[in-house]
Amino acid sequence: MILVIGAAGKTGQRVVAALAGQGMLVRAQVRRREQVDLLRRLGAQEVVAGEFADPAMLANACTGANAIYLIAPNMYREEASLAAAVLEVARAAGVARIVYHSVLHPQTEEMPHHWSKVGVEAMLFRSGLPFTILQPAAYMQNLVPQLRNAAETGFYRVPYATATRLGMVDLEDVAEVAAKVLTQDGHEGATYELAGTEVLTQDQVAATMSAALGRRVSAEVQDRVDWAAHAHRAGLGEYAVATLVRMFEYYERYGFWGNSFVLSCLLGRRPSSLGEVLERETR
Ligand SMILES: NC(=O)c1ccc[n+]([C@@H]2O[C@H](COP(=O)([O-])OP(=O)(O)OC[C@H]3O[C@@H](n4cnc5c(N)ncnc54)[C@H](OP(=O)(O)O)[C@@H]3O)[C@@H](O)[C@H]2O)c1
Repeated sequence: MILVIGAAGKTGQRVVAALAGQGMLVRAQVRRREQVDLLRRLGAQEVVAGEFADPAMLANACTGANAIYLIAPNMYREEASLAAAVLEVARAAGVARIVYHSVLHPQTEEMPHHWSKVGVEAMLFRSGLPFTILQPAAYMQNLVPQLRNAAETGFYRVPYATATRLGMVDLEDVAEVAAKVLTQDGHEGATYELAGTEVLTQDQVAATMSAALGRRVSAEVQDRVDWAAHAHRAGLGEYAVATLVRMFEYYERYGFWGNSFVLSCLLGRRPSSLGEVLERETR
């Protein structure tokens, strides 16, 4: 039985589906009871619902699991305490393998949601448990709302300069690798950077959207103050907005990308391009 913690999010749903697609027995941990049916439809045999702050829920979720995939929520201030609690129950339950969903370049102190993952990685090194760490780049699927907007308006709006160079990764490729390292031997102690092959300016992203949509799309800069005001109105919390603004500043100043060699080796093929992912999303 493989336990996926944080299974109802964007990442977890794809990891559960990839594991179930290989015929693996999956137990999904979700926060809300309303999410149980969704996870069952994705192929989870068992679903455990509850808050991370509930130690009995975590202990119950880990009982009988031989592997754990740990996904903390995006921009989650309590990531270190969640990881510490999971490691404790994993040790008590005798779990044979733990895979942590980290992020590309967690050493980036300027981005708090990356930096918080360095501490969790170090916790794994000290844990004595058999661990593997995955460090994915930003997902290409994050662009789907902007793709829909561009289909209507002809503009791809970003809160940083359109010359900003970013590397992304297909979340389906990440889920395929997650399923491999959870089910194959030989990945213990490994830290794998997962990045796609392209490093694109936002003007090039707009051109890729144009090709997928069959209409002209131009990249346009959105003022970060306007972006933050809009994000607040849409209900995003203070910490998330401030963290994302810091991420945009970092992106604009330095760019952000990794190397695709490790992902290609793990997949045994070339990772998906942005054009392929956007075509898939417009089908
Ligand atoms: N997005 C990217 O491009 C990217 C790239 C690389 C790495 N990552 C990393 O991937 C991870 C997962 O991101 P994601 O967007 O897939 O996750 P997410 O949707 O933010 O969160 C996953 C799940 O955690 C649940 N949750 C939140 N707080 C909880 C609590 N207190 N108790 C129990 N459950 C709780 C959420 O429940 P609800 O559904 O009820 O909200 C959600 O279903 C993050 O750590 C992120 O840093 C993301």
